[in-house]
Amino acid sequence: MKLTAHSAAESADSVRNVAIADLLDTCFDSVHGGRTYYKQVPHERLLVWSGRDLIGHVGMDYRMVRVGEAILPILGIIDLCVAPPARRQGIGAALLQRAEERAKAQSFALAMADDQRLYHGTGYSLLPAASVTFLAIDELRSHSVIRRDLSDIFMVKQLGGDAWPDGQIDLLGYLF
Ligand SMILES: CC(C)(COP(=O)(O)OP(=O)(O)OC[C@H]1O[C@@H](n2cnc3c(N)ncnc32)[C@H](O)[C@@H]1OP(=O)(O)O)[C@@H](O)C(=O)NCCC(=O)NCCS
Repeated sequence: MKLTAHSAAESADSVRNVAIADLLDTCFDSVHGGRTYYKQVPHERLLVWSGRDLIGHVGMDYRMVRVGEAILPILGIIDLCVAPPARRQGIGAALLQRAEERAKAQSFALAMADDQRLYHGTGYSLLPAASVTFLAIDELRSHSVIRRDLSDIFMVKQLGGDAWPDGQIDLLGYLF
């Protein structure tokens, strides 16, 4: 098994891009529509290969977000996925850990998670209140700026610095 890291600027490798798009479609019921991204290309990716097969992926978004009056550097976890035959072997947890290590300068890692089992086991927790403003993107078009209560999916892990402050959250961009 081999783990590789890639920045968005390196994304011209067509073999790798086909493998990423195939894995995303397999793991997320084809909502990515054959693309290597859902709403936006991540700044970085970590990939896990077994021979020529891509078996693990995580996208990383580096961003400043506003929480009340505080401006915080965060790592956004995007499209974390592991090929079905390779699941429950620790690859998902290892990808999360490596992503967090690469983003040490960020104060928090954020993940929007419907299935929270992996995140709960790796130090993430739901915020008790998460009123979130973000840019809604629909069918690859900027749609509107909206505010939603995301307290059922908005997971946070502290990577350094102070605790998560109180206040309304403004993602200063799209919801990854
Ligand atoms: C979620 C996902 C990435 C987990 O990958 P993985 O490599 O199987 O995860 P790990 O083996 O590192 O699991 C770590 C822990 O997470 C929890 N976990 C992960 N998947 C689980 C499952 N299907 N059922 C129960 N617990 C699970 C367990 O606590 C597990 O530890 P354990 O095996 O010692 O019990 C993978 O199931 C996947 O790709 N799912 C589809 C895409 C998806 O939903 N991605 C998350 C987007 S937010």
